[in-house]
Amino acid sequence: MKITLSTDSPASAKVDLVAVGVYAKGAARDPAVKAIDRAMGGGLLSAIKEEDFRGEVGDVLKVPSRGKVGARWVVLVGLGKGTPKASDARVVAVRGAQAARQQRTLAVAIPSDGPDAVRAAAEGALMGAYKYSRYFTGSRKPRGGIRAAVVLVDDKKAPALLRALEEGVATAEGINLARDLVNAPPNDLDALALADAARKACQEVGVKCTVWDKKQIEKHGMHLLLAVNRGSKTEPRFVHMTYKPAGAKRRVVFVGKGLTFDSGGLCIKPPKSMVDMKCDMAGAATTIGIVWAAARLKLSVEVHGIIGATDNMSGGDAYRPGDVFPSLDGKTVEIINTDAEGRLVLADALAYARELKPDFLVDHATLTGACMVALGRWTAGLFANDDELGELYGAAARDAAESFWRLPLTEELKETLKSDIADLKHTGDGYGGSITAALFLQEFVGSSKWAHCDIAGPAFLEQAHAVGPKGGTGFGVATGVAFLRALARGRDA
Ligand code: BES
Ligand code: MN
Ligand code: ZN
Repeated sequence: MKITLSTDSPASAKVDLVAVGVYAKGAARDPAVKAIDRAMGGGLLSAIKEEDFRGEVGDVLKVPSRGKVGARWVVLVGLGKGTPKASDARVVAVRGAQAARQQRTLAVAIPSDGPDAVRAAAEGALMGAYKYSRYFTGSRKPRGGIRAAVVLVDDKKAPALLRALEEGVATAEGINLARDLVNAPPNDLDALALADAARKACQEVGVKCTVWDKKQIEKHGMHLLLAVNRGSKTEPRFVHMTYKPAGAKRRVVFVGKGLTFDSGGLCIKPPKSMVDMKCDMAGAATTIGIVWAAARLKLSVEVHGIIGATDNMSGGDAYRPGDVFPSLDGKTVEIINTDAEGRLVLADALAYARELKPDFLVDHATLTGACMVALGRWTAGLFANDDELGELYGAAARDAAESFWRLPLTEELKETLKSDIADLKHTGDGYGGSITAALFLQEFVGSSKWAHCDIAGPAFLEQAHAVGPKGGTGFGVATGVAFLRALARGRDA
């Protein structure tokens, strides 16, 4: 899809479909609605009345224009009662693109002007048009789809708006790349394929990508990653992507959990919990999406992406509860529950990452069901051992309109990770499960300023929601990119 800026008005844009945002109870006062309604001889406001469209969040009304305005269809998108914000443009664009599935061209009327709204609209158009259709054949194969979208603005040559457009496009493409990886079935996307996908994404944007095979992982002493891999017929992979622009003053290292399938291992999951466990590499997918977008945008920040990739299976050599393994860091770990595999893979990846001496170290992982119990399906848990980083990351999340909630690294709970025979147990006593997982990770980050994003809920959805479609959502990419943009801006200031 090609996205451009246009100075057409919502009533004049010659497209198949124009999307217009409407705040609850405000339709009759909205200038875009008024202009289109006038051109349609009162047809739009009467449709709003007839269909009882109230402009609540999630309300969408598609009205044929019958040749009275430039667009063949007008789509009104409810924005609710809240105070108008730039990110509302994303909602308008997402819903507009979804409504335009059978059309070729889309115009997005943004409710507020300025770069933030343009960025959000561009992002939304690409996100809303997303559909995972790789495995459909015959009549279920989608035909066509939107070819061109325009964002309606006052000045289509303004450099700030053109840059925002680029940022929105790159971010959405990073998000959709992550979605594709998460949605890929686990028989096709194993650790080898995930590493290949990282390599391919890096090649596209000129980023260096180093992949270690099992022998190299053994040589470097990543025994926790190897422990998780023992029950699998497929080798593990360790991936290090490096985007290093000249003159960058800050270095950020992202680490992602790359469990291409989590059966639970010997502590096997019940079928209902196992069915969507191809999503357990979403942290890795988010990491790839962020590195890709940062490089595409040539952001002036050094960015590394680190992934530990394997599946968690129960083959004859599978690791057991009671086993003790050394970590890359040197600490020994007693295995309690083989289904708590993510923190083991991350522990070695974080110990490796901290040696890169990052200004900030950020990991993404579908780590705990407990985080979903605490925060629900749509909110990620955010942990940070540094308040400045916690706030910066929270601000980036608000910018990106992704929902994160800060959770504490409660010191007292460390008690529950004490082992009788090793340096650490890798699970606590069951209470505060998301926190004890984070506390375990903290043991491996040294003195790095570190944030941990538990994305178990929002990375993969059983039902479509504002944050994304059913299935893989690419959650975390938008916030990661917003965080890097803010750091790059700080450098110029
Ligand atoms: N991958 C799961 C966590 C998960 C659950 C992700 C639901 C997405 C949706 C993780 O490896 C896991 O199994 N965690 C256990 C930890 C427990 C054994 C301490 C959990 O959350 O039950
Ligand atoms: Mn697990
Ligand atoms: Zn897992």
